[in-house]
Amino acid sequence: MVDTRTQYHRIKAHVDQAVAEVIESTAFINGKIVQEFGHHLATYLDVKHCIPCANGTDALQIAMMALGLEPGDEVITPSFTYIATTEVIALLRLSPVFVEVDERTFCMDPLALEKAITPRTKAIIPVHLYGQAAPMDEIMEIARKHKLFVIEDNAQAIGCSYTGKDRVTRKTGSIGDISTTSFYPSKNLGAFGDGGALFTNDENLASRIKMIANHGQSKQYYHDIVGCNSRLDSLQAAILDIKLVHLDDYVEARRKAADFYDVAFSGHPKIRTPYRAPYSEHAFHQYTLVLEGVDRDGLKKFLAEHDIPSMIYYPVPGHRQKMFEHFKSSSQKMPVTDWLTSRVISLPMHTELEEDQLRFITTKVLEYINQ
Ligand SMILES: Cc1ncc(COP(=O)(O)O)c(C=O)c1O
Repeated sequence: MVDTRTQYHRIKAHVDQAVAEVIESTAFINGKIVQEFGHHLATYLDVKHCIPCANGTDALQIAMMALGLEPGDEVITPSFTYIATTEVIALLRLSPVFVEVDERTFCMDPLALEKAITPRTKAIIPVHLYGQAAPMDEIMEIARKHKLFVIEDNAQAIGCSYTGKDRVTRKTGSIGDISTTSFYPSKNLGAFGDGGALFTNDENLASRIKMIANHGQSKQYYHDIVGCNSRLDSLQAAILDIKLVHLDDYVEARRKAADFYDVAFSGHPKIRTPYRAPYSEHAFHQYTLVLEGVDRDGLKKFLAEHDIPSMIYYPVPGHRQKMFEHFKSSSQKMPVTDWLTSRVISLPMHTELEEDQLRFITTKVLEYINQ
């Protein structure tokens, strides 16, 4: 699905040098580069504070801890997302409340969100799924009206931008009270291992997040609140700092690949190409089709026989996961989510896709569907 090797070879000299410097410095943990990378990334997103951490799942956990959510508090989130978003809600003994997504954007449906609010609701986690922004104006408006926190799960959308009704264009991850991201290797900004980060414009939240990510420590060996240990290591920070310079080019390369796919599948009665919301500049973490009247497993198998990977993101939505079956929210009917779950398929999407590869992939997809 991705080609991180070719991407690495394009920047190999810089990466190898940066890695060698960290090793030589032996500052593996909390080296200067971790703070520097955090500053650079905060500047990229135009957010006051970026706190790097160990992975995107920890980032979500730390965000909810920093907001002071308490057991039983309800957190509203889409069912149609990766498990990390919803799992940490339950891990903290909060209650996940699943809502539908818009069938075109794959992101949280604001109408469903407003209906799901109860007196116990404390926070909303919209997910910028596949690299497209959730409708943040509507979500923020609802959040402000009901005095709820918003945590943007930006793991899949770093590099995506959002233009609000005020006509200001911002990066996703700079709009909610806190946002989180992941540097999992296949992500738009991928490390050579695990990594994640939190972002906020709020001074108090930033210092709580820093403390929580560091054992709740206010000064060395003084632990004021319960925290955890979640650090981005210096090697990853050094690599990410180099890759950050190329992030906009990486996203552009993904958009070009998406354009090729779009043209090849355009107007096909059995294939719906990804909708591009007018308010968002899609960052195409994934290129996901919705198939109508196609044997999806058959297509997957056919593509695999031709060495073309494809993935179903995600085969089981949150409200149908066994781990959540004791939550009331899991028993509700979610026709849009179920409909999408049975029809989506993601094709290879990365920065190194050549035209002949794209042509081969699209030809094979069409060959199967048209047979
Ligand atoms: C939407 C979403 N949220 C959270 C995460 C968690 O990130 P990580 O794998 O770095 O823990 C991911 C990673 O795949 C994701 O796609």
